[in-house]
Amino acid sequence: MISGAMTGARKRIGLLFGGRSAEHDVSRLSAANILRALDPDRYEIIPIAITRDGRWLLADRGNGAGTGASSLEIPQDAPQIALIPGGGGALVILDGGSRAPSQLGLDLVFPVLHGPNGEDGTIQGALELARVPFIGSGVMGSAASMDKDIAKRLLRESRVPIVPFLAATAQTLPTYGDAAETLGSRDLFVKPANMGSSVGVSRARSEEEYRRACAQAFRYDVKLLVERSVAGAREIECSVLEYPSGEIGTSPPGEIVPSDSHEFYTYDAKYIDPDGARLRAPADLSLAQETRVRTLARDSFRALACEGLARVDFFVTPDGADGVFVNEVNTLPGFTAISMYPKLWEAEGMKPEALMDILIAHALARHERRSALAWE
Ligand SMILES: Nc1ncnc2c1ncn2[C@@H]1O[C@H](COP(=O)(O)OP(=O)(O)O)[C@@H](O)[C@H]1O
Ligand SMILES: [Mg+2]
Repeated sequence: MISGAMTGARKRIGLLFGGRSAEHDVSRLSAANILRALDPDRYEIIPIAITRDGRWLLADRGNGAGTGASSLEIPQDAPQIALIPGGGGALVILDGGSRAPSQLGLDLVFPVLHGPNGEDGTIQGALELARVPFIGSGVMGSAASMDKDIAKRLLRESRVPIVPFLAATAQTLPTYGDAAETLGSRDLFVKPANMGSSVGVSRARSEEEYRRACAQAFRYDVKLLVERSVAGAREIECSVLEYPSGEIGTSPPGEIVPSDSHEFYTYDAKYIDPDGARLRAPADLSLAQETRVRTLARDSFRALACEGLARVDFFVTPDGADGVFVNEVNTLPGFTAISMYPKLWEAEGMKPEALMDILIAHALARHERRSALAWE
């Protein structure tokens, strides 16, 4: 029998990583970094691996965690676990192998998962049902930010500038000519509505490229977005952090400069090619541009009902503060060794350890606030 939560002074944190989405590998990189940033004197970490087919495994051994590995492994023979609805963080270990069946209690969960089933409100719903505090946005903020179509409609409603777009399913997909006419350009971007890490994203400047781009996006989602291409725009990102009090902080923006060998900021440029992109933190922006980016980052965070943390990504054209457009909001931004979210806070003098403390304190404060609501 493993002891329950709350027995020691240390908080027991379940670190969820892996997951079913195409961003499984990115999550394993992020989780290894987050693990390193959590002070073992104050936090007891229970790594929980989610396999590509969605099973939860108690990954307390054989995941490379203690070795300083850059990526956490999904162990092959670890016991499967289940989170108990209403259990306040209690997990039941379903198949202990040589161990006797046992329970384990978590004080808090950090879902370090990207993409569908991790960043889209599904896990957050399971954690709500379990009545366990967790880091980051809830069901609504996660789902609204993950779906680029829904997110853009909410941003537009809040008068946050976005690039002209249309959303379509296979039944409503416009021809290339019609899409080009609606969006005012023959230079288009096609992307799945729910995905990330540039998976399934392509540029289309001809009928043939458009056909291929749509087929590619439909591999990942039943809904896609077609957008006007912002040719030559700079890619600017801003980290948003909500303090336990509810105050929302924004970092000075950073810039992603993809190398010339990549057509845009592709998956390869992000994670495969070590020279795929350079990060500049902080970005070289005018004061007016920086102010605009930070204001819009906070507005977007509020418009999409985000909580805890988010990275808001922008396209910035040379037109001063008028040339700032929000591209997307990531509610569980990457935490890999090269990721912008923690880098931008570090450039502000906030170390990952301090960032974790704020995220954890926010998760606990939010849980307490929600538990005090009278709907129950
Ligand atoms: N409308 C656009 N104009 C120019 N580049 C774009 C556009 N949309 C996407 N891109 C390029 O594709 C990348 C990935 O697209 P994005 O919408 O951010 O999806 P993801 O959620 O996969 O990161 C962007 O970082 C950018 O390089
Ligand atoms: Mg992006």
